[in-house]
Amino acid sequence: MFKYELSDLKTKAERLASAIVPPYVILLRGDLGSGKTTYAQFFLAQILINKDKTVISPTFTIINTYETTKGTVWHADLYRLKNEAELFELGLIEFAHVGITLIEWSSIIESYVADVPKTIIEL
Ligand SMILES: Nc1ncnc2c1ncn2[C@@H]1O[C@H](COP(=O)(O)OP(=O)(O)OP(=O)(O)O)[C@@H](O)[C@H]1O
Ligand SMILES: [Mg+2]
Repeated sequence: MFKYELSDLKTKAERLASAIVPPYVILLRGDLGSGKTTYAQFFLAQILINKDKTVISPTFTIINTYETTKGTVWHADLYRLKNEAELFELGLIEFAHVGITLIEWSSIIESYVADVPKTIIEL
């Protein structure tokens, strides 16, 4: 079962996208298939500069980058990271301090972005 109706998830994501000011971290929490990427798709659709750009899951790429009306947005899925060395190499900690980051499976990075404004989306 999903916690939100798709239309409610869309509204919630669009509202945050409209209001957000970087730097800002969005921690997307929830089980496998709970809607984390779907939230990111709704969020990005609201602010993408190129409306034709497809927002796909970062499951395999780890990080996808988008240019938006709020500056660069990085969408990450850290599920497959094995250790902190891989995290540091990714550059996501630095990105999180300057732009907007949407992060799925974020536990490995949370202590490194404690000083950045953030919200937790529980799905
Ligand atoms: N609130 C919702 N209501 C109905 N269907 C949904 C909802 N949220 C997501 N879905 C559907 O569930 C499937 C999985 O969603 P999604 O890929 O966003 O999950 P995820 O949390 O990112 O998964 P993963 O943990 O594998 O990254 C998709 O087909 C999506 O369309
Ligand atoms: Mg996902």
